[in-house]
Amino acid sequence: MKRFYIETFGCQMNVHDSEKVIGTLEQKGYVQVHSPEQADLVLYNTCSIRDKAEQKVFQRLNENRRAKGKVFGVLGCVAQQEGEKIFEKAPHVRLVVGSASYPRLGDLLVQIEQGGGRAAGLSLDTDATFETPATRRDNPYRAYITIIEGCDKHCAYCVVPFTRGRERSRRWESVLEEARTLAGMGYTEIQLLGQNVNSYRDPENPERTFAGLLEAAAQTPGIRRVRFTTSHPRDFGRDIVDVIDRNETVCNMVHLPVQSGSTRVLAAMQRQYTRDEYMRRVEWLKGSPRNIALSTDIIVGFPGETEEDFRETLRLLEEVEYDQVFSFKYSVRPNTPAQKMGDHIPEEEKSRRLAELQEKQRNIQLRRNSGQIGTVQEVLVEGLNRSTGQWIGRTTQNRVLNFVTPPRAGGSVPGREEMFGRYLPVRVTRAGPNSLAGECVIAV
Ligand code: SAH
Ligand code: SF4
Ligand code: F3S
Repeated sequence: MKRFYIETFGCQMNVHDSEKVIGTLEQKGYVQVHSPEQADLVLYNTCSIRDKAEQKVFQRLNENRRAKGKVFGVLGCVAQQEGEKIFEKAPHVRLVVGSASYPRLGDLLVQIEQGGGRAAGLSLDTDATFETPATRRDNPYRAYITIIEGCDKHCAYCVVPFTRGRERSRRWESVLEEARTLAGMGYTEIQLLGQNVNSYRDPENPERTFAGLLEAAAQTPGIRRVRFTTSHPRDFGRDIVDVIDRNETVCNMVHLPVQSGSTRVLAAMQRQYTRDEYMRRVEWLKGSPRNIALSTDIIVGFPGETEEDFRETLRLLEEVEYDQVFSFKYSVRPNTPAQKMGDHIPEEEKSRRLAELQEKQRNIQLRRNSGQIGTVQEVLVEGLNRSTGQWIGRTTQNRVLNFVTPPRAGGSVPGREEMFGRYLPVRVTRAGPNSLAGECVIAV
């Protein structure tokens, strides 16, 4: 029996790639196990967005360099970035495969099984997207669907265009067919995925763009919630807001990474929009009757970022009042245009800026979340906190809402099977910076 173990680092695209890899391997007779010790094949699906992320996989490989009789494989963004150098750094690795070569993964494994030795899949020269009917999803209610792979934006700091190759959209019909299949299997929430979903164009009919696909996906019978990540502000058109306005099933939450509040820094980052252009999009979103929540990504300490540039980012946070912010210290990445700009901002200064920004955002989030006290929100129930006995749900704005249910007449309590996957109305009674708490307003 061929047993495999896989550990996944990085973004949602990587998580979903792993689901597809797992499905592909299971189809070939492999069985997933949950510790590397039990496995014949140990795979790491890696991320190289920041240096720290990249270091993790080399730590892992170092930990098990003496393991005998196993095949080690590195997949994903570090695989693509470092290529065959990985074989030198970690000689026990026998398989290195970038995401653009996953359609060949099965063949590469056969090559190793039959011939011993090593195999690499590192070509980025492809128009294909990685699709398989065998995707193995763990979450029974919420499913990812890839709509576009790769990235052509070349932001100055970013490795993704080098690790995931050029932009390629999946066929419109194929996306919608997967949405219908998932609905048929009982999924009620889908999340459309891509590094830049709004660059989507149907390869068979380039007139068909992201807004249309989002609307068509939102009208899939049985689907109650549609999310999408990530949007690049440059290509974020008004038509997307119109689709959100018209379709209750499109969640009222948008992730719109800004990276910096300073137009000067945005230009140095090659983001292709100014602060004002970004703010115009925020105004469209804020003007929507759907009460759209906003989240973003921010990098502090990009080369040349002055204290004044940083203050502009802080002011932007105040102006937009994001519901969630993912913030990072700038990390120099190999081969990127920004690599040549050096890395002048000292580590301690980056840490100070990050801490100040996070403190400010914590207060903003507390304020935003407190504004929801007293409202009734629909949640999708997806967990149970054993220690507090509270159910864990998510609102359409993607806030975590922990809640209790009204006592039953006979004193019994609802079971997990009854509760998970249900949509319930919950009154918000308390708010913290990262979550809400409340009570279900109907008997369950
Ligand atoms: N395609 C998405 C981003 C994917 S990477 C987009 O354009 O929004 C996720 C986030 O990681 C980025 O938004 C950015 O904030 C951060 N990031 C990317 N490269 C980085 C680097 N070199 N150093 C620090 N953060 C980085
Ligand atoms: Fe990276 Fe920019 Fe592409 Fe996002 S849009 S993946 S930040 S190059
Ligand atoms: Fe990381 Fe690659 Fe995603 S670098 S963030 S896993 S696209």
